[in-house]
Amino acid sequence: MISPIVSVSREGPSPGPSLVEALEGGAVLRFSDLDFPFSPFEERFVERPFADGKAKNVNIRGATAELRGAAGTAEEQEALRQLLIRYRAFAEALVTRYLPAYAGKVAFAGTSYRPFEVDRRKLSWRRDDTRLHVDAFPSNPIGEKRILRIFRNINPQGEPRLWRVGEDFASMAGKFVPALPGYSPLSARLLAALKITKARRSEYDHLMLHLHDALKRDMDYQANAPQADVRFAPGETWVTFSDLVMHGAMGGRYMLEQTAYLAVKDQADPERSPQRILARTLGRPLR
Ligand SMILES: [Fe+2]
Repeated sequence: MISPIVSVSREGPSPGPSLVEALEGGAVLRFSDLDFPFSPFEERFVERPFADGKAKNVNIRGATAELRGAAGTAEEQEALRQLLIRYRAFAEALVTRYLPAYAGKVAFAGTSYRPFEVDRRKLSWRRDDTRLHVDAFPSNPIGEKRILRIFRNINPQGEPRLWRVGEDFASMAGKFVPALPGYSPLSARLLAALKITKARRSEYDHLMLHLHDALKRDMDYQANAPQADVRFAPGETWVTFSDLVMHGAMGGRYMLEQTAYLAVKDQADPERSPQRILARTLGRPLR
């Protein structure tokens, strides 16, 4: 089954359990009519990239919301920082309103401004996000958390954000997990001791990193696996568990993105997490 796109209107009748159920089942929620207006001063942020160009994105993180990777005058950078803080509040309000079961349980992490065209230079296949994948962070073990992401297309010239979505996680895992290398608790402890990872890499993290790479490396799978093209128009917001939903970003520039974490135990149904799906695929609990 290919991940469904579920349209939600602002005044729609169905915020609540059914949206959580769709999301946990691998849907992408599409909101077409949520407002996130820019001030006249802020219009400049979608006219040219206010980025130093060293990193892919500009972002704020942590309690201080320190801005990283930005360009512009001090006044402009402070305005961009405030825009990102406002977007984080927008994402929090969206969760409270449409996914009330998660309110107070979701931890809001980095917020990013993505002014550049999707990178097609193909520097390395591992970093090529046009290839279908699920998100996994090499240096930042996730353990028993889920990755929830809230995106918004802020392109001023009508350009859509182009995505591909793929098949459901369990079907994908059934094809790839049997060939993945085994997990070594010893090397996980070593990576943590050497500070290569910020915490001990669990078996789940190990499997997700290898899945990420195995998927991106397999050109036959990339071309022939079940998949669908999706266009997100300017002004649209979309929400998904990016650790569960197979996706590739094919094109578009000027986007805002909020990353949030939810504990598996705080899901409506933890059995639908990639953690539990992988355990079922292996036929035993993960270590
Ligand atoms: Fe991704």
